[in-house]
Amino acid sequence: MTTLVVHPATAPLTGSVPVPSDKSIGHRALLLGALCDGDTHIAGFSHGEDNVSTANALRAMGIVIDEPSPTELVVHGKGLRGLQAPAHDLDCGNSGTTMRLLCGTLAAAHFRATLVGDETLSRRPMMRVAGPLRLRGAIIEGRKHPTKDDILAPLVLGPLPEGRVLSVLEYDSPVASAQVKSAILLSGLYADGVTRLREPSVSRDHTERMLSSLGCPLRAVGSVVELDPSGWDRRMPAFDITIPGDVAAAAFVRVAAQIVEGSRVTARDVGVNPTRTGLLEIARDMGAGLAIEPQGERGGEPVAALHASCAPLRAILVGGETVPRAIDEIPIACALAARASGTTRIRDAGELRHKESDRIATMATVLRAFGVACEEHPEGLDITGTQERLQAAEVQSKGDHRIAMTAAVLALVARGPSRIRDAACIATSYPKFVATLRGLGARVDVEAG
Ligand code: S3P
Repeated sequence: MTTLVVHPATAPLTGSVPVPSDKSIGHRALLLGALCDGDTHIAGFSHGEDNVSTANALRAMGIVIDEPSPTELVVHGKGLRGLQAPAHDLDCGNSGTTMRLLCGTLAAAHFRATLVGDETLSRRPMMRVAGPLRLRGAIIEGRKHPTKDDILAPLVLGPLPEGRVLSVLEYDSPVASAQVKSAILLSGLYADGVTRLREPSVSRDHTERMLSSLGCPLRAVGSVVELDPSGWDRRMPAFDITIPGDVAAAAFVRVAAQIVEGSRVTARDVGVNPTRTGLLEIARDMGAGLAIEPQGERGGEPVAALHASCAPLRAILVGGETVPRAIDEIPIACALAARASGTTRIRDAGELRHKESDRIATMATVLRAFGVACEEHPEGLDITGTQERLQAAEVQSKGDHRIAMTAAVLALVARGPSRIRDAACIATSYPKFVATLRGLGARVDVEAG
């Protein structure tokens, strides 16, 4: 257990910050690198624990991944059928993306693999991927959910009997989830017919972009994606990629600058894929100081320098198709709402209850601990902001990295030092978060226990 003691900011936060590499793109580069023929070079990789879980799962299935420098990886891909039976359980740690994308990758494997996760991941619903994959013939078993019609990790996948192949799949997903979509598309690489998936609204499209760039016959129109492998030789060439900065990780420092008086902070080379920019729009609508300076493309993804500064904030309604495009940033959006004049209403965000923690309930507890008035709804929150300093708080992250970082940001505008317990989870996505805050002049102590 690690506790952060975050002291109120006594001066503006200023400077230019490094941003960890995009976690979602990192998972996909590793997985697809393993399925390509030849050596894939990944640059700008920042070793968040979640990405490392994906790398280690691939290593356990016989993929050699070298690390020529602290930020570079070389994945020695073995083609679509190159993964081997693992000698032990595949530990996905805290990473839902690792577990769900592996379900798709291994849906057609002729060996058995068991996927395990930490306590948090073992509480997250897995039928959303197992259900559609079973429809096309995959064998996936899990632990029965104690109260719902769902399954939980550990998951046991396969083996698909020799001679059996995955069938076509036409699937209307009940959730806008890139993990579900990606698992289905990855299984489609092995299917003997078309994969067609419709989402209620568009989720992040990194898998589609990367697969298309590797020659995979994929077509996306609005929220419908189709993969038709007929006539495709099912070979993907190795590739070189520099991973953009993670817009969701950058959000914590950006919002810190947007709420600490006088601050000005820049993050460069941040991915601004339009399926990920919901919080940029929310912040702009709230009146936050934000300038976006396009910097071209990196790894098939648009990147930009984001300049954040403090400005008066006003409450807004957040809902609809913006939510899936800001799904990881809703906790930190709550920190903006806590400083805005009026009541911000967050709606259509029921998916937050299935993240690393129930982020609606956990955020409500955190906000109240800081003295911020808020009301919990089944699919959202009402948050009434204040421009006064917040009360100093003692909060539990519930093992959720984004909750821990949001609490650290709120603590910067509190009246006294705040304690954030169970903060080691921050390393799943942003190992250098504390160092980055300190680099901007914030005072953060780290205590064991
Ligand atoms: C991710 C998809 C999202 C997101 C997660 C990463 C991905 O999850 O919350 O942090 O890389 O595909 P859902 O697919 O459950 O919405």
